[in-house]
Amino acid sequence: MSYVNLKEVLRNTKNQKFAVGAFNFNGYEDVQGIVNAASHLNAPIIVAASMSVVRYFGLKQIVGLVRGIAEAVDIPVCLHLDHSTSVDLCKEAIVAGFGSVMIDASAKSYEDNIHDTVEVVQFARKYGASVEAEIGHVGGVEDNIVVSKEDALLTNPSDAQKFYEATKVDALAVAIGTAHGFYKKEPKIDFERLQTIRNLVPCHLVLHGGTGVPDKDFKRCVDCGMSKINVGTELKKVYTDTIRNQCAVVSRQEIDPKKLTKQVKTNIEDAVMKKIITFGSDDKI
Ligand code: 13P
Repeated sequence: MSYVNLKEVLRNTKNQKFAVGAFNFNGYEDVQGIVNAASHLNAPIIVAASMSVVRYFGLKQIVGLVRGIAEAVDIPVCLHLDHSTSVDLCKEAIVAGFGSVMIDASAKSYEDNIHDTVEVVQFARKYGASVEAEIGHVGGVEDNIVVSKEDALLTNPSDAQKFYEATKVDALAVAIGTAHGFYKKEPKIDFERLQTIRNLVPCHLVLHGGTGVPDKDFKRCVDCGMSKINVGTELKKVYTDTIRNQCAVVSRQEIDPKKLTKQVKTNIEDAVMKKIITFGSDDKI
């Protein structure tokens, strides 16, 4: 139906208490699997490209791919640039046709984070694109960037409020105890902190590091007003495990690459459908 910005795809999340999944992709098959899952369940969906995926595909190529797939279905699809540490890349992505970008200046000083975010917000407004920023610092491994436990910093609620007032960003990623990548033990989410932030900050809130978070914790985050939930590592594993399995079961005489890759679409679709149901975004278009 539509290729939309982040504001639009998250439009009903707060009043209807659900979250939209933002799923990172790494190839063609997983984009298809993610969008097909949402289409089967009548769910709004966010397809997220990391900086390494941008380097691998190219910005215009990504826009062509995702917009084309979005046009074939009857649900709102948002293409989002994930964790861009570069203001220039955010601007290039917006010009290329991304509906949403994340400027991640969370490793910089609070003032520089505000400065970079304001610059991207002002640029994005001219194009009707949405902007996400991060305050506090989510730990773990994202796109080969490692944020150690010592550097991970939970979001201070009053900083988040001031940050929103200064930037008027559309969505804010908050650090409340999750981390990017696989967990060594179950994450301990600070729901009280989330609730306080929710009461102070009017924009959409975003949970990063969705891989390995138990369903009950996702549901509690949604109850506390989380609007967007990011999942990346889990789908990477589904993708690579599927290819490895297919290599083992498909005859070595087979030369049709689709025989190896087709199953990726199905397995990604299954994994994403489960998350959509957990996040409560099924039948919400
Ligand atoms: P995971 O890789 O831990 O699922 O986190 C994804 C993410 O937050 C992308 O921004």
